[in-house]
Amino acid sequence: MPIETFKVRPITPVLGAEVHGVDLSKPLSGCRSDELRGMLMDYQVIFFRDQNVSLEQLKRFGRLFGELEVHPYASSQNGHPEVLPIHADAKSKQVAGERWHSDVSCDAEPPMGSILHLHTVPEVGGDTLFSSMYAAYDALSEKMKQYLDGLIAVHDGGPNYRRRAAIEGLDDKRDFPRAEHPVVRTHPVTGRKAIFVNPVFTTAIRGLPENEGDATLQFLYNHNSQPQFQLRFRWQENSIAFWDNRCVQHIAMWDYYPQVRSGNRVTVKGDKPY
Ligand code: SIN
Repeated sequence: MPIETFKVRPITPVLGAEVHGVDLSKPLSGCRSDELRGMLMDYQVIFFRDQNVSLEQLKRFGRLFGELEVHPYASSQNGHPEVLPIHADAKSKQVAGERWHSDVSCDAEPPMGSILHLHTVPEVGGDTLFSSMYAAYDALSEKMKQYLDGLIAVHDGGPNYRRRAAIEGLDDKRDFPRAEHPVVRTHPVTGRKAIFVNPVFTTAIRGLPENEGDATLQFLYNHNSQPQFQLRFRWQENSIAFWDNRCVQHIAMWDYYPQVRSGNRVTVKGDKPY
């Protein structure tokens, strides 16, 4: 048996790497999945090319990193509750992830990671941008770090998911997750600090008057979206992106209407931020 070795090509000095030399349609040994876990810790988001994986194979890959979760709002692929279709075509009124966010941060235990496989991509456009919340935190002044450390933010799924339903002409009366998390969280594996507020789910800072909380959040959203913390991933057919929601935010560009962009995401459960 030839011994496969990963080839890792970093994308920016701050985050992201393409990983070559692995076929994710085949089972991976514990050693190899440990290596990939280590790469995710180092690079925060890792990418694979030319991965023609089935839904079962995508789920099997995801389960190497933890239990898979079912999305609290979006419908899943038939017979695969843990698989979230990501799809846009000429009939779409919106797409997933059009604003900066960390997936489902309104959960009490937000997902550790998300793995997105796109099998159909537009000729041009449909990129996903990723931003390192470690780099965003590290770039703050010591005074600002002291102010933010210890603040708690409210993350509420309701406004986002009801707004999305309204775009589809629906009045969604379901209860959605709501949780409180530190504005600056500590990554449970690396121990590094990362900013953990985003404009999709964060609605307030606990204990601050609304105007002060809103101004603080707006400052952070502007700060977090600076290009030096980012990379822009250009998809190809059968690319996979695997990002760590605990230290990375992302945004999907919908600049390819009416073309089709389509694939599937599995989401790996996480734990309570601290
Ligand atoms: C998402 O998971 O937020 C969607 C990302 C994408 O479609 O690029």
